[in-house]
Amino acid sequence: MSTDKNLKKRGTKTRKFNAFLAAIVLCFFIIHIFAGTAFIYGYLQVDSWVPYVIWTFFGLIIIHVITCIFTSYFMLIDKVNAPSKKKKNHLLLKWITGVFLLLCALSHGLGQIFLPQFFSDLSTVFLIDTIQCAILITFLAWHACVGVKSLLKDLNLPYSEKIKIIICAVLIIIIAILGAIMVAHEFLY
Ligand code: HEM
Ligand code: HEM
Repeated sequence: MSTDKNLKKRGTKTRKFNAFLAAIVLCFFIIHIFAGTAFIYGYLQVDSWVPYVIWTFFGLIIIHVITCIFTSYFMLIDKVNAPSKKKKNHLLLKWITGVFLLLCALSHGLGQIFLPQFFSDLSTVFLIDTIQCAILITFLAWHACVGVKSLLKDLNLPYSEKIKIIICAVLIIIIAILGAIMVAHEFLY
């Protein structure tokens, strides 16, 4: 019984840490999307230290993934609060959207380095990058919306269905507007 209690305690602590990490990463990449869009329109310059900061936060995504392995494990072995089928499916959706998000983020990040080496024509580079970014932010919004309920609960923030819908709506609107502005660049310039 005390082993069950210890496991539960460890599970709760890990979930708190993971939620905190996910919130920081989410805030950073929303700022990055604003900055990236401003950069594309020429309103912002990229200093040499910027890629290091972006890759550092990418590193935090990897720590988030590793922590998720533990939180998922603790949830699945919990005998006191055994997860329902619905909860397990929800976890699976978090993993699926997370894996796609990781693949898109990686291809966008590496694309910044390698695309200009493969294509001499800059308009092709911009077109591929725009398509990658559009898919990437769709998965970012999807993954974050799927995780919003547990995020609020794990951070002990007030939770209700209404709050969840408002946060998801704000997130989707921000990303849709920035995405549209970014895609519009392809047609305008
Ligand atoms: C509309 C959405 C986005 C736009 C317009 C955008 C734009 C950019 C731009 C302009 C750069 C190059 C910065 C530089 O020259 O150093 C960049 C780099 C990068 N972005 Fe994004 N980004 C977007 C979304 C994201 C998201 C959601 C992620 C991760 C979840 C991400 C991860 C990265 C990474 C890892 C790099 C590589 C840093 C480097 O080596 O330059 N981006 N992005
Ligand atoms: C920009 C990158 C990412 C952001 C902003 C993000 C955001 C979030 C948020 C807000 C949550 C809910 C937090 C909570 O459960 O308390 C979450 C959970 C989760 N994320 Fe991510 N995530 C990112 C990348 C990833 C990646 C790359 C994967 C997997 C490959 C992933 C897999 C998961 C899983 C499995 C959970 C559920 C953990 C659990 O409930 O035990 N995430 N994420």
